[in-house]
Amino acid sequence: MDLDEKKEGDFIESIATQGFGFFHVADEGGQIRGYIHAIPHSQSKRRHVAVFGMIVKKEYRGMGIGTGLLKSMMDWAQDDSSIKAIQGWMVDGNPAWKLYQRFGFVEVGRLPNAVILKPSEISEDKSGNEEKLFVDLVSIWQGVDSN
Ligand SMILES: CC(C)(COP(=O)(O)OP(=O)(O)OC[C@H]1O[C@@H](n2cnc3c(N)ncnc32)[C@H](O)[C@@H]1OP(=O)(O)O)[C@@H](O)C(=O)NCCC(=O)NCCS
Repeated sequence: MDLDEKKEGDFIESIATQGFGFFHVADEGGQIRGYIHAIPHSQSKRRHVAVFGMIVKKEYRGMGIGTGLLKSMMDWAQDDSSIKAIQGWMVDGNPAWKLYQRFGFVEVGRLPNAVILKPSEISEDKSGNEEKLFVDLVSIWQGVDSN
């Protein structure tokens, strides 16, 4: 997965027009390197839970940008007393899980076989067998204590 300018632009615009939620871009000299968003649920009875997503451009990964983006989102959540939890979805086996755990996320459930990997994303496991094509979608969560 990588940034697609048109798709990401449309997505950013759709968030901006909602008028609420959190959006933070990491850039260098005006060049976008990654971003994070957290959107309170659209139903009023679930609005205290913000759903987040993030991406960093491939060539800038492993440099601490994702860590900075997550920190900025958690600061926002702690400063907004209406936000009581952050939830996200992660493809099972995503190396980002280590990063999320470091920030206090826990797994709270999973949708079995909810994602089909592209052939280019399938690697061989240690025993030489081809890994399964379908993978779980994992729900990750953490409660937020307001400042
Ligand atoms: C997840 C993501 C945003 C992390 O951004 P980042 O700028 O690389 O993150 P940081 O440099 O701050 O942190 C790197 C840490 O994340 C973890 N990590 C995330 N992706 C990794 C990868 N592809 N390979 C190895 N470690 C990875 C590691 O724990 C690493 O910590 P370490 O360096 O101490 O081992 C980025 O890898 C990405 O855009 N991935 C594709 C999209 C994605 O998976 N988004 C999340 C969907 S839930």
